Amino acid sequence: MAPVHPFDSAKDFEIRLASKLVKDAYPASANVHFVQIDRLDPPKKDMIKYLEAEKHGFPLPNISRVLYCYYYTNTLDFNKALVNVSVGHIITKTQLPKGINGPLLPDDVMALEELCNSHPAVVAEIEKLKLPPGYSVRNDPWIYATDDPNETRPLVQFFMYVLAGNGHTESNHYSLPLKFSPVFENFSRKFVRMDFLPGGFDETTTPTLPWQEVPAVEYHPDLNGEAQFRDVRPLLISQPDGPSYTVEGSKVNWQGWQFRVAFTSREGFAIYDARFKGRQVFYRLSLSEMTVPYGDPRAPYHRKQAFDLGDCGFGVNGNHLNLGCDCLGVIHYLDGFGISGAGEPFVIPNTVCMHEQDNGLLYKHVNYRTNNAVVARKREFVVQTIATVANYEYIINFKFVTDGSIDIETRATGILSTMPIDENVKVPWGTIVGPNVMAAYHQHILSFRIDPAIDGHKNTVVYDDTLKLPRDKLNPYGIGFVSDRTYVEKAGHVDQSPFTNRTCKIINENVINPISKTPVGYKINMPARQMILADDDSYNVKRAKFATEQVWVTKYRDHELFAAGEFTNQSKTDTGLAVWANGVDAVRNEDIVVWATVGFTHIPRVEDFPVMPVETHSIQLAPFNFFDRNPALDLPQATNGFNKSTLYSSGAEGEKACCKTKI
Ligand code: CU
Repeated sequence: MAPVHPFDSAKDFEIRLASKLVKDAYPASANVHFVQIDRLDPPKKDMIKYLEAEKHGFPLPNISRVLYCYYYTNTLDFNKALVNVSVGHIITKTQLPKGINGPLLPDDVMALEELCNSHPAVVAEIEKLKLPPGYSVRNDPWIYATDDPNETRPLVQFFMYVLAGNGHTESNHYSLPLKFSPVFENFSRKFVRMDFLPGGFDETTTPTLPWQEVPAVEYHPDLNGEAQFRDVRPLLISQPDGPSYTVEGSKVNWQGWQFRVAFTSREGFAIYDARFKGRQVFYRLSLSEMTVPYGDPRAPYHRKQAFDLGDCGFGVNGNHLNLGCDCLGVIHYLDGFGISGAGEPFVIPNTVCMHEQDNGLLYKHVNYRTNNAVVARKREFVVQTIATVANYEYIINFKFVTDGSIDIETRATGILSTMPIDENVKVPWGTIVGPNVMAAYHQHILSFRIDPAIDGHKNTVVYDDTLKLPRDKLNPYGIGFVSDRTYVEKAGHVDQSPFTNRTCKIINENVINPISKTPVGYKINMPARQMILADDDSYNVKRAKFATEQVWVTKYRDHELFAAGEFTNQSKTDTGLAVWANGVDAVRNEDIVVWATVGFTHIPRVEDFPVMPVETHSIQLAPFNFFDRNPALDLPQATNGFNKSTLYSSGAEGEKACCKTKI
């Protein structure tokens, strides 16, 4: 068996051992029911020594593999255990206080769907609809969010939909929302109550009446009613000499980049120990949390706030990616894993993909005197995962670029979360996207955790504002402007300031660029964006403090990975950045973590329905006075001998069409 690297994903034998040790620690009557098992990151101080030894080929220190287990006992008691699977013993096991709830296990969600639709109270409500023959009801189990300081039960609310009677499994139930919403207690499977959803302008609800048939707006090609599909010809990605990357275990080598990729249950994947041209740049990069608060103020919609990582897990809801569909070219796939409630692991095949892609030009210059061009194409190495979180899909791409930059791209797609709306009613917090179906305004707010190691672990965050120079003796024409630098000294946030072009940079004050005579660094390119709109005193904000600011800086501590805290399901406060960004910890020239919040306020459009074309948002991490010149000068020049494009009118003329390059 190949040796396990400390950054490798949890292995199936490790998960089995951890779950067995935990189960053996309880009597059978405790009914241990797991909801998540994964490995903890190794302590950083040990890993720094390990990585140094690895770099120099010295003997590697032993680093224990430790797994965390979240599980319920006696139906409703939520517990966490840490298990050292290298030596096979439980380090700690703790019952967590009432009111702290674990993430939903995907298997449990499927079971909840069945439970809901077969419960007598729900069946009775469905009967009142008097659905036409062939029609049925589908439900989406939903995270319950938080609205009551005294509520400690693990609750699940269900949104109910009609499934049209066309007999097709892929019919779009989101197009036909119903007006009742059962609430159950998870695990005990107790029916709690039936909520009713308003269909008019205000909170008024009505008892369930026979369903008035409206046509579903279908997305599936079998059903969407498109008479003819467009004539699209193949566009093939051909890599006749193989890819320009190698993968060994979790380690990727590509065009000067070296890093490791590990699947994680909660984040999808994490990037570790990223180096470019032999220099350390990032210790760890990952999506950290995402919250999706909805803006429809009427009960029970006020409880629509999901935390897609903490509440259910991005990795465990990851797609099986397919060649030629989700990813084109020569693809390396990484499997993920899920667990059953009994703690048995299973493989989620091909849930992370890695491949190269072309993204237009990286740089070009034409000497107009000679018409000679210097031109290099921008090639990227993409690490991608896609998670389906009920109705929505999120596509997360970390794109490594040949100039030492990294683009972190989020694409939101899938199906809008819909609500019923009566005929001839309009609401100011939603868009009518189909007959009697409304999509409420909402926000997608993602936190990316950036653990930098810019030429070492002692780093500093600065922000540069570009300011007009006052008109004076130095600036007599009034056209001058300068960059004004502020150092972040204490753990906290950086305010946005788009009109001073405020840009955050992560620098290493101990390493000076010989050309610019300034500290080496990476800048964080991200446009200013609207942050969370809910009131400061609302649970939406109290639970997601991270969503109030775009850039946060904290001092590094092991296991502080998740922006809204470890447990978000029905949480009452943010136990992540709300605590760690404490205004006290010194963060200048320290081991720090930067948290970048990407927010997009989604005002749905009719074109987002029945399936949404991707909405794309990016953060770029770009070297800033890190190298002594453009680090991509060693790229071969683009020629058509290499790229083999052809002319539209005559394929044989391709060679003449491309860039005339003389070197
Ligand atoms: Cu959206």
